[in-house]
Amino acid sequence: VLRVLEWSDGAVRFLDQTLLPNTEQYVSASHEREVAEGIRRLAIRGAPLIGIAAAYGTALAAFQQLACDPSLVALRVSDAIALLRSTRPTAVNLFWALERQRRVLVRFELRPPRELADELLSEARRLHTDDAHKCERISANGLDVLPSNVSILTHCNTGSLATGGRGTAFGIISLAHERGSLKHLYIDETRPLLQGARLTAWEASRLGIPCTLIHDSAAPALMREGRIGAVIVGADRIAANGDTANKIGTYGIAIAARHHGIPFYVAAPSSSVDRSLVDGGRITIEQRDEEEVTSIGGVRMAPKGVSAYAPAFDVTPADLITAIVTERGVARAPFGPALRGMCGEADGQE
Ligand code: MRU
Repeated sequence: VLRVLEWSDGAVRFLDQTLLPNTEQYVSASHEREVAEGIRRLAIRGAPLIGIAAAYGTALAAFQQLACDPSLVALRVSDAIALLRSTRPTAVNLFWALERQRRVLVRFELRPPRELADELLSEARRLHTDDAHKCERISANGLDVLPSNVSILTHCNTGSLATGGRGTAFGIISLAHERGSLKHLYIDETRPLLQGARLTAWEASRLGIPCTLIHDSAAPALMREGRIGAVIVGADRIAANGDTANKIGTYGIAIAARHHGIPFYVAAPSSSVDRSLVDGGRITIEQRDEEEVTSIGGVRMAPKGVSAYAPAFDVTPADLITAIVTERGVARAPFGPALRGMCGEADGQE
């Protein structure tokens, strides 16, 4: 499993995913602003990983402040939480992880600042390790529901680059490969930022997973040709009724899968479930810069003056989802009660 982000010598060290696959460059952030910026520009990305990064970013703020004026550590931490919350709006894991750190702040506010800093770092490490374990359980649970010797289509990137462990949807895929039950992996390129072509194809190649890259609009044709036996994707936020926000394009794949009678699975840690939202209509969808649509790799493709619309995510309604695989088990329709049973207070949600 790749170590794409870690606490190292009092800094947050992370792999800059914007440069992959051509350059493997690590950045050492010594200020929480650099972590926030890394999340904003997708150098650090994927719902679970941005939560983990934000948790370390909070600890980083505490240690930085400790070194100059310990009396202001609690204030700096509170500001860091606000800053990190403002980076990206859709993945609920970010808010979930920062809520965990806010609770640490409340508990340790009146203790010596050093203890607050130490505890924030311990909490970040716990979140990181827990996520790795959750990935293992999601992968094992997912393997149980998959047909054997299956060809899978996935969208975006949900592997080690997006989580604290082997991945969610991609974790299931890599485990299926290890157990000899993956026939083939089809990877959507995932326009506009190419998380499929740049990141998932990179991870799959490193693991020797037999894979083929397709452009996003090819998926329905491959389904019609009988080449795809199941679709597995990740999630950025799952509403209480199972409606799921994930990378733009996911919804279209789910519709195509339903049309062709192909099972469509969502894999995510229970921390991706936002029980405060009754349905997906209330999920905030991040809007990205128009330039991500009008240009490719920094080269302008559309004529000057043409405007573009660039939602980063879409919402797949629960009735198109065959099952939601979490570390706590596999939820099937009706998702409301199934998810309620899986995502309790124990995981830190109100
Ligand atoms: O914009 P990104 O690259 O952060 O989008 C990521 C996704 O949509 C993933 O599918 C999701 O976060 C799950 S990662 C395990």
